[in-house]
Amino acid sequence: MLASLLALELLSLGLFALLLFRQQTNELTERAHARIAYEARSLALQANEALHQQQPQWVGLSVKMMGHSPTVAQAKVTDPAGNVLFSNGIEANDPTLEPAELKLIPQIKRDTANCLTLAGDRWECVYPIYTSDVLRGFAWVTYDKLWMNEQVDSILRSTAIFGAIWVIASAILVLIMGRSIAQPISVLHRGATALMHAPEDVSHFPLPVSVHNEIGDLIETFNRMVASLAEQRAGLNDTLSLLDSMLANAPIGLAFVDRNKRFVRVNHVFADLTGVAVSRHLGRTFADLLPPSATREVETAVEHVFQSEEPVRNLELNGEGGKARRPWTWLLSAYPVRTTPAQVRWAGVIALDASDRKRNEEALRRSEKLAVTGRLAASIAHEINNPLEAITNLLFLLRNFSDLPEPARQYATMAEYEVRRISEITQQTLRFYRQPTQPARTALSELLDSVLSLYQGRINSLDLHVERKYDPELTVFCFAGEIRQVFANLIGNAIDASSPAGRLLVRARRSRDWKNPAQAGIRFAVADTGSGMDPDVREHIFEAFFTTKEVTGTGLGLWVSHEIVLKHHGSIRVRSRSAAQANAAPKSSSGTVFEVFIPDNPDFAKEIAAAHAKASAAATAS
Ligand SMILES: Nc1ncnc2c1ncn2[C@@H]1O[C@H](COP(=O)(O)OP(=O)(O)OP(=O)(O)O)[C@@H](O)[C@H]1O
Ligand SMILES: [Mg+2]
Repeated sequence: MLASLLALELLSLGLFALLLFRQQTNELTERAHARIAYEARSLALQANEALHQQQPQWVGLSVKMMGHSPTVAQAKVTDPAGNVLFSNGIEANDPTLEPAELKLIPQIKRDTANCLTLAGDRWECVYPIYTSDVLRGFAWVTYDKLWMNEQVDSILRSTAIFGAIWVIASAILVLIMGRSIAQPISVLHRGATALMHAPEDVSHFPLPVSVHNEIGDLIETFNRMVASLAEQRAGLNDTLSLLDSMLANAPIGLAFVDRNKRFVRVNHVFADLTGVAVSRHLGRTFADLLPPSATREVETAVEHVFQSEEPVRNLELNGEGGKARRPWTWLLSAYPVRTTPAQVRWAGVIALDASDRKRNEEALRRSEKLAVTGRLAASIAHEINNPLEAITNLLFLLRNFSDLPEPARQYATMAEYEVRRISEITQQTLRFYRQPTQPARTALSELLDSVLSLYQGRINSLDLHVERKYDPELTVFCFAGEIRQVFANLIGNAIDASSPAGRLLVRARRSRDWKNPAQAGIRFAVADTGSGMDPDVREHIFEAFFTTKEVTGTGLGLWVSHEIVLKHHGSIRVRSRSAAQANAAPKSSSGTVFEVFIPDNPDFAKEIAAAHAKASAAATAS
């Protein structure tokens, strides 16, 4: 740009110099013409005066003087016929006029300088000399071209000097402009280009401000703008990171869908709920992931959000499958996501896994029912107890009747035996319901026997062979009711898993904790030859609500048992072989062994008694 400016400057300077030179030369020529005319007239007047004074020799003097004038090349005076009378030039030796001069003589006017151009580009003016109206001759003055050339040279020199000064000044100006305009502009241009190619990279900024002019101000403003953009971008990045971390770590399922109800983004919790990896959600619809009934409901909700631009809250969705491969319940809310105030671009979906809550509610309902049934059973047992006592007494009296025939006595004995069994069952039922609230030293055989007698009916109907291996003297300090519940759950599960004519082993002995051999206590084992468990079932059995017994199980038995064992500072473990595993290995059969260790430790017993008392006091206070 500056180079073209400089070129333009030089061009205009050249033109200007040319014009100036031409004008100066024209002016010089005009002035030279005027001067020569004046000098011819002056010579004519001097000659006139000399003739008037009768001093013709003065004319020669005047001619000589005129000849000394710097602009005069030649001065001469001729008679009217054109004969040179006085001359100071070369014609002094050749006193004749040139043909052109002779030709002019007839046209010479009075009181006028008559000028002509001679060969060799010489100028000459001639003025007539009159005395008393008589033409006495002509005064001729020839211009000194040399002088004029000198003048022209001088003009040329001045113009050249002026031009050179102008060019140097222009070059300096261009240099200054280059430093103060072009250089900063190119810095600005480089900065803008770098920013355009890599908007995130601000390492080139701030741009150096080397000048203090408007362009310097412009660069400073540009730097401020870039800094403010970087700040805004950092703010935006912070917000995005915040949103990302919220999305990643929120303990609720979050998903965003577009108007075609395709997922554009989901978090891990949502992916866990659907059982499909996060990346595999993108571009897919609810129909690809959820059962049809749930899909219909959620799609209607999302459609409503897009249509009405209003949120939908707490929609209960039920389905089956997902990662946990069991029935689930979600609480779902959907809300509009606007990218501009006028446009709802996405629908946000919040999904809460309410399966546990739902199962809890169901379990609560069921345990309420069980509690009611238990209370009812206890009160029935209690009410049955009195008449039973009476029947037992009556049968005793009947059996001791002296004249009772022998078969009748035998029937009475049998009836008495059965009534005693009924009485035992009612006692067990009552014992089950009335659990002591304090831990106490408890006879284990009593607990195990009571549980086995409770399941006697099912044991009989399955024709299970029960092996009892426990010392009747074994005791442990525990909450008897809770430990009974553990046995009931383990034995109940073993019976559930057993096939007809299977074997059931119940064993108890003094031993040490397998986790901490220093700890002495009682180790129980409940083993069956039932169906066994696959590894993926075994992995989940201690989780609440995990069951493979679809209708009959709540999935709480082992979870509760585990909690009770932990409360007693004990351990529980399982070994199991499923039918498939048993088939794969030679000479092996399926089955499960549960082992429970309860430490027999008076300190721990005191500790749980104290904790129990504290909990009871808190419950009473509230
Ligand atoms: N002895 C066993 N043999 C085979 N599977 C067992 C055995 N004991 C437990 N299981 C498996 O463990 C699961 C969980 O048992 P848990 O006692 O917690 O619940 P449940 O028996 O299904 O239901 P609930 O006891 O609440 O009625 C069972 O559904 C079953 O699949
Ligand atoms: Mg169970």
